[in-house]
Amino acid sequence: MTENTANTGLAHIGVVGLAVMGSNLARNFASRGHTVALYNRTYEKTAVLMHEHGADGNFIPSKSIEEFVASLERPRRAIIMVQAGPATDAVINQLAAAMEEGDIIIDGGNALYTDTVRREREISAKGLHFVGAGISGGEEGALNGPAIMPGGTKESYESLGPLLESISAVVDGTPCCTHIGPDGAGHFVKMVHNGIEYADMQVIGEAYHLLRYAAGMEPAEIADVFKEWNTGDLDSYLVEITSEVLSQVDAETGKPLIDVIVDAAGQKGTGRWTVKAALDLGIATTGIGEAVFARALSGARTQRAATIGNLPSGEVTTLEAQGVDKTQFVEDVRRALYASKLVAYAQGFDEIKAGSEEHEWDVDPRDLATIWRGGCIIRAKFLNRIKDAYDTNPEVESLLLDPYFKEEIEGLMDSWRRVVVLATQLGLPIPVFASSLSYYDSLRAERLPAALIQGQRDFFGAHTYERTDKPGKFHTQWSADRTEIEA
Ligand code: 6PG
Repeated sequence: MTENTANTGLAHIGVVGLAVMGSNLARNFASRGHTVALYNRTYEKTAVLMHEHGADGNFIPSKSIEEFVASLERPRRAIIMVQAGPATDAVINQLAAAMEEGDIIIDGGNALYTDTVRREREISAKGLHFVGAGISGGEEGALNGPAIMPGGTKESYESLGPLLESISAVVDGTPCCTHIGPDGAGHFVKMVHNGIEYADMQVIGEAYHLLRYAAGMEPAEIADVFKEWNTGDLDSYLVEITSEVLSQVDAETGKPLIDVIVDAAGQKGTGRWTVKAALDLGIATTGIGEAVFARALSGARTQRAATIGNLPSGEVTTLEAQGVDKTQFVEDVRRALYASKLVAYAQGFDEIKAGSEEHEWDVDPRDLATIWRGGCIIRAKFLNRIKDAYDTNPEVESLLLDPYFKEEIEGLMDSWRRVVVLATQLGLPIPVFASSLSYYDSLRAERLPAALIQGQRDFFGAHTYERTDKPGKFHTQWSADRTEIEA
């Protein structure tokens, strides 16, 4: 560590906010040979990082924002890794005050994309660049190679891109980092990534629940099943860690750890934001929505305390009573999981397409299928297939229409339906398995009950309807002689 005054303009990049994610990101930059400026609101965290890892690379620690900014080479590049919300705004303002035209402020947290759009507008008015960059991969990813989704101007990416690409995960020689689109595009895409993450985790949870409580398998046995599943179509980070979690034994009680963890899931907001944005865009992200609601319901602890064992279930059957073969059931659950997962990804990509159109971001879905193959939480082998699908037809109306996925789903269909029926008969909750199947059946339906809804709307509110046989809008005079008029 050198005296900071001697370090003016030396650092290639700076990190503000040195909690675990920020520290790991700084260490990642340093491990790739970059000189990294460091700043944290309280110097203690900076000191800890310097004490523990200062010798691993070139770091320039600072005690003030001004000193930190001065230590950066130009154009200055500073990544903020602080809590989303007011803390981010405070740091942005401090940085902006100390920076000069052409410098780049990067927000690497999980910011709400509308905040990013606003911040980009405010910061660019000052002649600076503002880049909202989604960073996925948790603590381990930040340290060894995350997936990075930067928004902002093309110009800022020219200066920033090579640095970010140098620390990202790499799959088949391609960095898991690319310019996503202007202003809020990067954070929007990261938000939807997290929404898909919620759905993916929930479908894995539903599969576990069925194996445990329908098939009566023990956690260690289920861990082996997930390990096996991870060698096929379901090969993914989330399936891999599921096996790890299920095989963990609690040191204190000797029980499977899963049995001593409270079944109330937390959430920081990105899943909820994904659903809110989908509602505004009119996109049916039902799998993600159900996953968010499933977390909310799990966390409604007072309500659950009052209802557990206190609500009728009707006649509930068992797997044995249904004469279901356990091996077949496990395979059915695997297929139902895969099918529901495909739906969740298809819905997520639909939302990204709609968001991109709405904000004129021109996001290329192929980029996402490429960079999500490594580093991020939803990394999965089948993202290669999604990339192929968009390579074949970038305009495909739904991923489910891609010939490969269409054929896959056809092969999964019977199992998927059997699992949904059986879980219902067994009284076991499967919100995403069931809603995904319903979504699929809605998509492919020749007629939907929406015709009746239009009739009802016209009845009580003269909202009019369209006819299948001629153009125009029509209204039936329900309270008069019920003749139809053109509206
Ligand atoms: C990632 C993760 C990460 C984090 C989310 C989800 O991509 O690395 O998505 O961003 O896990 O904040 O957290 P919640 O489950 O608490 O909403």
